[in-house]
Amino acid sequence: MNNRINRLQHVARAICTILVFQVFGLAAQSIWEGGDPANGQSLFNANCAACHKITDEILVGPGLAGIKDRWPSGDEMLVKWIQSPQEAAETGDKYIKSIVERYVGTYGWMTGQAVSEAEISDILAYVTSPPVNGGGDTASSNNCPTIDDATPEESDSSNAMWFLILLVLFTVIALSAAGVKRSLTDVIAEKAGEDLLPDTGYLARLGGWAWNNLVMVSLIGVFFVLYGVVVGYSALMDIGLYTDYSPDQPIAFNHSIHVCENEIDCKYCHNSAYDSKHAGIPSANVCMNCHKAIKKGSRTGTEEIEKIYAAIGFDSSTGTYLDGDGNNGKVLPQDSYNGEPIKWNKVHNLPDHVFFSHQQHVTVGGLQCQNCHGDVSTYSVGRIAPVEEINTLIDAYPGIIQLSKPTLTMGWCLECHNKAEIDLASSGYYEEMHDRLMNSERGNEELRRYIEDEKITVRELGGWECSKCHY
Ligand code: HEC
Ligand code: HEC
Ligand code: HEC
Ligand code: HEC
Ligand code: HEC
Ligand code: HEC
Repeated sequence: MNNRINRLQHVARAICTILVFQVFGLAAQSIWEGGDPANGQSLFNANCAACHKITDEILVGPGLAGIKDRWPSGDEMLVKWIQSPQEAAETGDKYIKSIVERYVGTYGWMTGQAVSEAEISDILAYVTSPPVNGGGDTASSNNCPTIDDATPEESDSSNAMWFLILLVLFTVIALSAAGVKRSLTDVIAEKAGEDLLPDTGYLARLGGWAWNNLVMVSLIGVFFVLYGVVVGYSALMDIGLYTDYSPDQPIAFNHSIHVCENEIDCKYCHNSAYDSKHAGIPSANVCMNCHKAIKKGSRTGTEEIEKIYAAIGFDSSTGTYLDGDGNNGKVLPQDSYNGEPIKWNKVHNLPDHVFFSHQQHVTVGGLQCQNCHGDVSTYSVGRIAPVEEINTLIDAYPGIIQLSKPTLTMGWCLECHNKAEIDLASSGYYEEMHDRLMNSERGNEELRRYIEDEKITVRELGGWECSKCHY
């Protein structure tokens, strides 16, 4: 009897163990299976591409091709490694010890990545079976055309130039013609034995001529005044004072290298564009997420990257922060090091009397950065894109609203607000308003007319009211 119970217990325990293994097995499998490679691709680009390729080439860390077959330490450990490499290393895992020995000396520690287990599964799905065409590894300097400095400005200012040149030419011709005429008259007069004309100066003669041709002179005068008014007016309303402005920067930061070649998302560095008024420039701490390990650029060597270290107080030869304790690899704010913070020069800068919010445009309005900033992934220096250039991006970025007024002028804001339609279905707020207006007897007649064609522009919702943009 006892024997039997014992045996039953054994069997039960065995079944339990098998079950437990099975469950663990499933859980472990799920990290390699069922991930979404498309989502994985963008996660990879945002979080890993700066240091890893999906081929077997070493970038900063080892290429991740074949990682599935290579990784012997189980899935839990892989997740732990990606989220917090140093903690994973502390477990004493043998394989991890071997990669630490191989890479950390040269490349520094991999930084812990803020990705969840499900996201890691997506990333692994992408890494193990990347889309055949395009994606992760197409990035190469050849595919990344760059716009270097400001292209020379033409049009408006060159018109004025031509006008001046013509004016000078005309004056010279007129004066020399007058001189020739005078010499001829002198010659004729001399032949006829008459008295020569009195030798008056140009100015006196010009005055005399003007007095005799009052109508002509007034016409010319009116023309100049009108010309001045037109030029002055368009200068105020239209002329892109900012267009193509690109100030020098303290560090040769290059969007093309980061965004195009290394496929780092705008969000990584300008996260606040999505949830606040300002897009903001990343602090040196953000640079250090990658540049703690990437100490050398292929174009500028260590020169430019060292400037980040100088700002934040990092000794690249020892890989420690100058506050002394090394902080176990964590980037601390510059509290104990009195380096000069990096002083980026603002490129886009609206006057203080204008209110502009990124969140309103990017998150609520659903606009792409390129609609206002052009193809930043091609820039080597921060600049203000001319509107004509932005209009040509329509193929690469469908949905870009085509505008004609110079970027950042008031005319530009107004033109877009007149063109940009609001998707009524995009938010419950608009839907509710729509229903209220269409169904209420007393609904505002004018608004109802706007709404009848199911198209509402920003202007119709008040986007042309002075107070929306001016304090
Ligand atoms: C700042 C650079 C950096 C980033 C970003 C980074 N890694 Fe790493 N990774 C490394 C380095 C360097 C190593 C080699 C070990 C070391 O030196 O810490 C490594 C090692 C690895 C390994 C082990 C490779 C092997 O051959 O076994 C895996 C897996 C890995 N990283 C995955 C990821 C994933 C997934 C991401 C993105 C979520 C990521 N890493 C982001 C630098 C980085
Ligand atoms: C690796 C970090 C990083 C990434 C990724 C990045 N930027 Fe930047 N961005 C910067 C830095 C640093 C500056 C300041 C230096 C400069 O103006 O070039 C800057 C400047 C800018 C400016 C000009 C700011 C000003 O002063 O008016 C714009 C616009 C901009 N970025 C847009 C973008 C867009 C759009 C993307 C994505 C396509 C992007 N950035 C991706 C770091 C980044
Ligand atoms: C997500 C990772 C990442 C972040 C964040 C990042 N960089 Fe980089 N950076 C890279 C990579 C990758 C390279 C390319 C290295 C190479 O040339 O092979 C690079 C190269 C550079 C270079 C050298 C360019 C060259 O080729 O000589 C400079 C300078 C630089 N970055 C500055 C910055 C600054 C300043 C910041 C912060 C505003 C920053 N980076 C943030 C990944 C990053
Ligand atoms: C509707 C047009 C528009 C869109 C869309 C837009 N921006 Fe801007 N951006 C501006 C204007 C205007 C400024 C100047 C703001 C100021 O001076 O107050 C600016 C300034 C900036 C700056 C300089 C820092 C700052 O906050 O003033 C950065 C960086 C930037 N934008 C990045 C982005 C990124 C990244 C996106 C996409 C996520 C984006 N912008 C989308 C119009 C736009
Ligand atoms: C590329 C198109 C575009 C440009 C350029 C643009 N806007 Fe807008 N703007 C929008 C859209 C779309 C919305 C509506 C977002 C929403 O609420 O759905 C909006 C909304 C606004 C609002 C809120 C209006 C309201 O009724 O509450 C303000 C304020 C504003 N924009 C200011 C500006 C300023 C200032 C500029 C110029 C520096 C500018 N915008 C340039 C497209 C644009
Ligand atoms: C959609 C946003 C927006 C609206 C609505 C708007 N403005 Fe402006 N306004 C701007 C911007 C942006 C500038 C700065 C242009 C520049 O610096 O070239 C500006 C500049 C000005 C200036 C300074 C002159 C100049 O060119 O710098 C005056 C005056 C002005 N606005 C008056 C008005 C009046 C009056 C209204 C209402 C009829 C109005 N604005 C509505 C965005 C707006």
